[in-house]
Amino acid sequence: MLKLIIFLMCFGVIFANNFWIVKPGPKYPPTKGEVWPKPQYQTKEKTFYIFNPLQFKIMSTYQTCDILTNAVERYFYILTSQIGGRIRKRKERAHRRHVSQGLNKGYINNLEIALMEPCEDYPHLNMDESYNLTVSATSTLSSPSIWGVIRGLETFSQLFYLSDDRNEIRINSTQIYDFPRYKHRGLLLDTSRHFISVTNILKTLDAMAMNKMNVFHWHIVDDQSFPYKSEKFPELSNVGAYDLSMVYTKEDIKKIIEFATNRGIRVIPEFDVPGHTASWGSSHPDLLTECYEGNKVVGLGPMNPTKNRTYILLRELFQEIQTWFPDRYFHIGGDEVGLDCWRSNPEIKEYMKNNTLTVAGLHALFMRRVIPLLTNNSKLIVWQEVFDEGVKLANDTLIQVWKYNWITEMINILIAGREVIFSSTWYLSEMSSEWPDFYLPDPRKMVYGITLNKNLLPGIVGGEACMWGEMVDDRNVINRVWPRASAVAERLWSTLDDKMNFKLEIPTETYSRIEEQTCRMIRRGVDAQPPSGPGFCNV
Ligand SMILES: *[C@@H]1O[C@H](CO)[C@@H](O)[C@H](O)[C@H]1NC(C)=O
Ligand SMILES: *[C@@H]1O[C@H](CO)[C@@H](O)[C@H](O)[C@H]1NC(C)=O
Ligand SMILES: *[C@@H]1O[C@H](CO)[C@@H](O)[C@H](O)[C@H]1NC(C)=O
Ligand SMILES: *[C@@H]1O[C@H](CO)[C@@H](O)[C@H](O)[C@H]1NC(C)=O
Ligand SMILES: *[C@@H]1O[C@H](CO)[C@@H](O)[C@H](O)[C@H]1NC(C)=O
Ligand SMILES: *[C@@H]1O[C@H](CO)[C@@H](O)[C@H](O)[C@H]1NC(C)=O
Repeated sequence: MLKLIIFLMCFGVIFANNFWIVKPGPKYPPTKGEVWPKPQYQTKEKTFYIFNPLQFKIMSTYQTCDILTNAVERYFYILTSQIGGRIRKRKERAHRRHVSQGLNKGYINNLEIALMEPCEDYPHLNMDESYNLTVSATSTLSSPSIWGVIRGLETFSQLFYLSDDRNEIRINSTQIYDFPRYKHRGLLLDTSRHFISVTNILKTLDAMAMNKMNVFHWHIVDDQSFPYKSEKFPELSNVGAYDLSMVYTKEDIKKIIEFATNRGIRVIPEFDVPGHTASWGSSHPDLLTECYEGNKVVGLGPMNPTKNRTYILLRELFQEIQTWFPDRYFHIGGDEVGLDCWRSNPEIKEYMKNNTLTVAGLHALFMRRVIPLLTNNSKLIVWQEVFDEGVKLANDTLIQVWKYNWITEMINILIAGREVIFSSTWYLSEMSSEWPDFYLPDPRKMVYGITLNKNLLPGIVGGEACMWGEMVDDRNVINRVWPRASAVAERLWSTLDDKMNFKLEIPTETYSRIEEQTCRMIRRGVDAQPPSGPGFCNV
């Protein structure tokens, strides 16, 4: 008997949050026509327009360019085929009933896009993503920037919903003025621990655009494999990739960057040095340090900072990478260096002694020599260790915080006048964390909570959700990233409450809204996993 009660209680807690009563139906029914991430300002109105995919048009006035033409084509397809295709059948009777209620304002005929300034070719850290959207029979979307237009088109597409009787697609009258809270809203994908196909990278970029994320941080190589197919050093992937088929060619990279650019997403490559480089050693063992146990070599460790050949190869390789990736930023890693290996190597010990260096000093020296190898005024992103070890960094270097004690770390970086990208609480690779765990933390609030200093906060330029590749491959990467990364996306875009206090409860509305966002991603071909428990998606 006792066992039965305990069993019922467990079920109650898991499925109903309410002792043993289990209600039929979804736990959180999806909202209808709510936007994710939530816009900064939106008026809510009850009047609505009916969508007729056969009559609807998108027009652009003022400026235009290929990126705009492509975006219009993409969203026209989403609206007329994907969203329009959801209508089961038309019923005049239901239609008329609403006319009598005065809520039905007739058909939405077109969307007029006013891009006020010429297009930029490629998105950047300080791009303008603001837009204004007014929904009426002739709706208008205006922005000074192509990137704002792209964000506004996504919002527009999210406002449409299927009526309860499933007979028509509707969109409510509304006015939206929107812009992001943080300018760097990224997703890190690791393609070394498991190879991720170009198809799934493109799908990831599409999902990022649906969530208004704007940086694809491509952690392309690591210890386990080297899938970047260099033209200057083909042996790096010929020997270092898992398989000759598991590589990204120059053409693949070009395709990924083009696809991302069309969605207002930057592609930042990371070539992590001097640690996490075992796969480089498959073809170039002489780049790496021999690690010793006593006087026996037991394996290879981080890059050898005392050898000039290391820097010569890096200079050549970085030049190639910089011509293939147009972004101004380059991530050179700098995390988790196997300092014990350096400590064990007699030659390096002697070098440190000759130059009165500690191992941390040696790491700093390595970074100091590598940074100038980047040309074209590239700007840097580094993991926090590089800052912690006192390497002198240009003041526009972005420092990515990923470890414990992140609040103290962020404060130290901000006080030193450097800018922060935050990731510590956003490791999607923590497989047991669910979206609410990622939804709550806000780096600016955390820093404000300790310092009460608002001047420091703009130095936190954004954050990244990180999907390290140990436990995800091509089969589960999409559903492990989505919709969990959507939580980070909304945190970084929306100003959910401007009071700088901690709110530890997520409103039920948010649970319902992320259900709708998940269904929306699924309908657009992204196999997102259920966010919060039992439920279903209307087709
Ligand atoms: C749209 O309008 C209907 C009434 O026509 C209302 O019930 C619903 O809450 C509105 N939805 C949104 C997202 O504003
Ligand atoms: C959008 O609307 C806001 C608020 O009404 C206004 O300040 C801003 O100038 C508008 N921007 C554009 C691009 O129309
Ligand atoms: C290695 O590079 C350093 C710094 O550029 C230079 O001073 C040194 O002479 C070089 N050593 C050799 C052996 O080329
Ligand atoms: C430097 O920039 C120019 C102009 O943008 C570009 O053509 C060139 O390929 C770049 N070089 C490198 C090494 O990135
Ligand atoms: C250390 O200094 C000695 C004396 O100048 C020199 O012979 C030796 O090559 C140096 N060792 C290393 C690893 O730089
Ligand atoms: C970096 O320094 C330059 C020149 O000293 C200054 O104009 C710029 O505002 C600084 N940037 C940051 C992020 O502190």
